[in-house]
Amino acid sequence: MTNLSFRRNRRLRTTDALRAMVRETTLSVEDFIYPIFVVEGENEKHEIASMPGIYQLSLDHFEKELDEVVELGIPSIILFGVPHDKDACGSEAYNNEGIVQQATRLAKEKYPHLLVIADTCLCQYTDHGHCGVVEGDYVVNDPSLELLAKTAVSQAEAGADIIAPSNMMDGFVVAIREALDEAGFVNVPIMSYAVKYASAYYGPFRDAADSTPQFGDRKTYQMDPANRREAIREAASDIEEGADFLIVKPALSYLDVMREVRDLTTLPVVAYNVSGEYSMVKAAAQQGWIDERAIVLETLLSMKRAGADIVMTYHAKDAARWLKETDNE
Ligand code: PBG
Ligand code: ZN
Repeated sequence: MTNLSFRRNRRLRTTDALRAMVRETTLSVEDFIYPIFVVEGENEKHEIASMPGIYQLSLDHFEKELDEVVELGIPSIILFGVPHDKDACGSEAYNNEGIVQQATRLAKEKYPHLLVIADTCLCQYTDHGHCGVVEGDYVVNDPSLELLAKTAVSQAEAGADIIAPSNMMDGFVVAIREALDEAGFVNVPIMSYAVKYASAYYGPFRDAADSTPQFGDRKTYQMDPANRREAIREAASDIEEGADFLIVKPALSYLDVMREVRDLTTLPVVAYNVSGEYSMVKAAAQQGWIDERAIVLETLLSMKRAGADIVMTYHAKDAARWLKETDNE
């Protein structure tokens, strides 16, 4: 035996202390962005059937949710609005009294240090459920940019700290950057959904946000899941246009793409652990088939290891609690 020559890789795994010393990736509550769905009305709190633990909240309940988020030390939220009224051009998205604008003002008043990110898209606000302006059955690019830029400015005026455009129109970063700058918001960063696939993993979100397209699909603007090199082009064009953060979405089935984007840029990279990824874990946990806590922490860690600096996740509140417990153990 002693004559054999091989490397004792297990040597660095012998104790907790050694394992901690050589740990390459860590997960912290500071990494999290927590998505919240806000609805109009009063005393509305509806659990989303396919997303146990996630609710549509009216502003009174939203306020309580903020208390919890801040108490847990989660530094940031992203807001999704679910309006009553929808029309062809999504006017509620850029209404200064729209639900996201109201929620943003409330959050910033109550917790000035909490980072409020506004998801900037039209699909929750359009009656056809597409992310832009529809002509015939096609979502047209440039007219959609105008409405998106208008939405971004209105969200910044309400106090949003970061604008996160998600509709995958070409040129949306530069269009929003120009509009924000013109309106005096030179220091409001853009967190671009740079690499966003046409994914079945968004299914539960579309229930939550009531944003299912009424005809067709999103394949003419969201990316083909088969493509990796195209993701590099999408990321590169957003970098050129002046994005401050790049999002890769979904996360789990696209960790290879996350690594590509990480290696391409020095900008902060964000993983979006989407609704379907959340629902699958929740369903298996409810069946008692998996250890939810261990699975969630391992999953979120894998996104960091793949290159993400920041993780947008519906698990954020649970994960924050679990990380706290681990600290105290
Ligand atoms: C809106 C938007 C979507 C998601 C975030 N912003 C849905 C979509 O593009 O269909 C998905 C988030 C999730 O599944 O958690 N454009
Ligand atoms: Zn959309």
